[in-house]
Amino acid sequence: MSAKSQGMVSQRPNIYLLGFMGTGKSSVGRRLAAKLKLKFLDSDREIERAEGVSIKEIFDTSGEDYFRNLERKFIENGHPENGCVIACGGGLCCRDGMPELLKSKGVCIVIFSTPEEIFERVSRNNKRPLMNVPNPFERIKELLAIRTPYYMRSGIAIASDKNMRHTVEHIERIYRSHLRRKQCK
Ligand code: S3P
Repeated sequence: MSAKSQGMVSQRPNIYLLGFMGTGKSSVGRRLAAKLKLKFLDSDREIERAEGVSIKEIFDTSGEDYFRNLERKFIENGHPENGCVIACGGGLCCRDGMPELLKSKGVCIVIFSTPEEIFERVSRNNKRPLMNVPNPFERIKELLAIRTPYYMRSGIAIASDKNMRHTVEHIERIYRSHLRRKQCK
């Protein structure tokens, strides 16, 4: 790839992948970034790297509000302005002001899955502090009810497809049509 075309790639707007835990943001994001030749970032991993501790430890020692502030700072000025696909933690857009901030930063896609699909995916590991409760399925439904108004305001809503390739292609089409409209193809 020529230096010129590399420059154009890095100028492409960021894609923010939003949505509940277990909707596949990170897996989809990694594939999407590879396909579009953009850099992949995961907000949780970036926060862990910057803080030097796991998300679970941040929740345990400093609490959820502290973590939410780290998420906001990461979106405000903790990542490149262009050229990235960013998988965002499931609660990142669910604070007042965050949907608007995110949409000012790039193309925002919100992935939706059913509570059953989410439960199936989050049950595979115990790294998520908010799922460390006696009845995670009920908690998923409660949190979805609280968060859905934020998700609906945060970007273009899509349903996750069981076949991840279809979800990736769906987002790619949305992104390319955005680039065409902005004429920065
Ligand atoms: C959270 C989702 C997690 C992580 C943290 C809190 C949430 O990210 O940020 O455990 O509030 O929904 P994933 O959505 O990547 O699991």
